[in-house]
Amino acid sequence: MITQTLSLEDRIAARPGDFRVLTGDRPTGPLHLGHYFGTLRNRVRLQQSGVDLVVVVADYQVLTDRDVAERLVPTVEGLILDYLAAGLDPDRATIFTHSAVPALNQLVLPFLSLVSVPELQRNPTVKDEIAHSRQSSVSGLMFTYPVHQAADILFCKGNLVPVGQDQLPHVEVTRTVARRFNERYGPVFPVPEALLGTAPLLLGTDGTKMSKSRGNAIALSATADETARLIRGAKTDADRHITFDPQARPEVSGLVQLAALCLDQDPHEVAATIGAAGAAALKRTVTEAVNEFLAPMRARRAAYAQEPGLVREVLRTGNARANAVADQTLQEVRVAMGTLY
Ligand code: TRP
Repeated sequence: MITQTLSLEDRIAARPGDFRVLTGDRPTGPLHLGHYFGTLRNRVRLQQSGVDLVVVVADYQVLTDRDVAERLVPTVEGLILDYLAAGLDPDRATIFTHSAVPALNQLVLPFLSLVSVPELQRNPTVKDEIAHSRQSSVSGLMFTYPVHQAADILFCKGNLVPVGQDQLPHVEVTRTVARRFNERYGPVFPVPEALLGTAPLLLGTDGTKMSKSRGNAIALSATADETARLIRGAKTDADRHITFDPQARPEVSGLVQLAALCLDQDPHEVAATIGAAGAAALKRTVTEAVNEFLAPMRARRAAYAQEPGLVREVLRTGNARANAVADQTLQEVRVAMGTLY
């Protein structure tokens, strides 16, 4: 797996113009440091390397979560500000909401005909989400969203999808859909590859995976005071001597890791520097490192938030670009299917 990832990275560096990267997020809330080190940083790197980057704000997919659907618009706007603050550049990357691109959504219908119900039922990520959802019954959208995601990727003929482990089954569905479509109707779609991130899993302030719903996440947009408060309340353990040992000491090691990423240092070194000074010193180090690291991003975000109409303009431009691409692909699909009346 690692050699495969490396060779893909080599190919990207050698010929960035060969790649169209499609990635995106469900607008569930403010992006946090886990998102930043897990994916955002990598997207900005790809954008800078000259790859054609397309970012989907999955505002239909998020309807699988009823709580979020109620405050969708402010959440989408906040997400765009987080993107801009982190360094995504709307002049170089296409940032769009998939609800605003009708031709993309129309692709879902022929795509649905290419997968069976048992295949949809077997998807481990969907199964997991259903098991953890607090809803009494499963919507049709929930079962079919991986096929919708295939349309997100294939409408622009994306051939590279940077993802975390949990999204691999969805890239597999996309590959299946592309292959079956091409077999049945002729070659229209690339069969995309997943680009697995190499970032370490970021732990929140309680030693479990950083996640908004667990209340352990440091939002990019949080204030320095909010950040300090969250870290002050973080879990540690009884051993005063600070070490980096993720297996035995997840809480302390999670904090060390956070400081290390923000300081761009080795976590063992960070732990050694604090040594016997204990948890209070560790928390001081983490707070300072995080706030210093995020300060320029927060300043940029505040400035963008002051610009009236900026977010709408970013989306108008991105949606127009995405619509042009989607119309072209749908036209090719119609030609391939012979449904050009
Ligand atoms: N399912 C992804 C998530 O929850 C978001 C997403 C939607 C996505 N469409 C996509 C990711 C296409 C990659 C490619 O994070």
